[in-house]
Amino acid sequence: MTDTKFTPRVFSGIQPSGNLTLGNYLGAVKRFVEMQESGIQTIYCMVDLHAVTVWQDPETLRHNTRELAAAYIACGLDAEKSILFNQSQVSAHAELGWLFGCVARLGWMNRMTQFKDKAGKNAEKMSLGLYGYPALMAADILVYHATHVPVGEDQKQHVELTRDIAAKFNHDFKTDFFPQPEPVIDGAATRVMSLRDGTKKMSKSDPSDLSRINMTDNADTVAKKIRKAKTDPEPLPDNLEDLAGRPEARNLINIYAALNGQKPEEVIAEVSGQQFGQFKPLLADLAVAKLSPIGDEMTRLMGDVAEIDRILGAGADRAAEIAEPILAQTFDIMGMIRSRR
Ligand code: AMP
Ligand code: TRP
Repeated sequence: MTDTKFTPRVFSGIQPSGNLTLGNYLGAVKRFVEMQESGIQTIYCMVDLHAVTVWQDPETLRHNTRELAAAYIACGLDAEKSILFNQSQVSAHAELGWLFGCVARLGWMNRMTQFKDKAGKNAEKMSLGLYGYPALMAADILVYHATHVPVGEDQKQHVELTRDIAAKFNHDFKTDFFPQPEPVIDGAATRVMSLRDGTKKMSKSDPSDLSRINMTDNADTVAKKIRKAKTDPEPLPDNLEDLAGRPEARNLINIYAALNGQKPEEVIAEVSGQQFGQFKPLLADLAVAKLSPIGDEMTRLMGDVAEIDRILGAGADRAAEIAEPILAQTFDIMGMIRSRR
């Protein structure tokens, strides 16, 4: 159910915290590109304000933000068709994030599984920003009145919280100002799993580099990581149901399907009966064929940092043009005086 009062608009973001993985690519960026090509207005952000909820070395953050921009472009995002920028250049995100921090309830935040996962037993030592992170994410989306949010499975709860914040704001202020954005979670790889443990998500922050494929890995490294991926001694069955209880095998099938633009059902029908000794080289060749051109293009783009910064600045100007009037109306609805000239 999309709100009809609002023009369809796509917003999504990724943290520039380094090690962009195959999970980010298949779960997010590849789908950002598909939505860009669908003709809807698309706005994609490098969420540096979210990244600093955990410690970031300043030089590394600068590098990672540019590298993420290079990855977006190398994967097919086009700065003319989509608005591409880093979050901190558009101050409306932080301002609306504050207002939403006053709308969201502590009880809602306490249910967020990503905070619990990241904080573990050390919640007391985490930053206040990490705890309030979902309110800023809601602001990212709603400051554009975005209606669709392409994300991986792990972000579903945050988009649902965004809907709750929009609904509470609308209810409290007796308005229908904010839309109810929809998470868009589809494709064969909404949750790419670790290559070392098929029950854990492939993650930027996993201590083992062998657990993930990074978009900057060279062909040899990609092939090596796939060769070393954990599997089991059974051959591949002829249907997906028979992969139940074999999470590592299922993950490799899903990755193959997503990279090749197929359904997992189609892949399993083609490779049934194969041992992993046969299937892994096929997957490695496919992964290298799809990822190497992206890695090469990222390297080329990173050779001209001034151009990347120019693209981000121009994107931020376009983003601010949409966000600022929405923020101003929000202040007004809440009773804040805006009388500066
Ligand atoms: P993050 O790296 O946490 O900023 O995530 C950026 C985007 O990538 C979000 O939409 C995530 O849902 C998505 N994502 C991250 N890891 C994975 C994964 N292992 N599988 C699928 N999507 C993922
Ligand atoms: N929280 C998201 C993640 O960790 C990143 C993010 C921040 C985001 N703001 C967003 C995603 C707005 C979609 C829309 O992956």
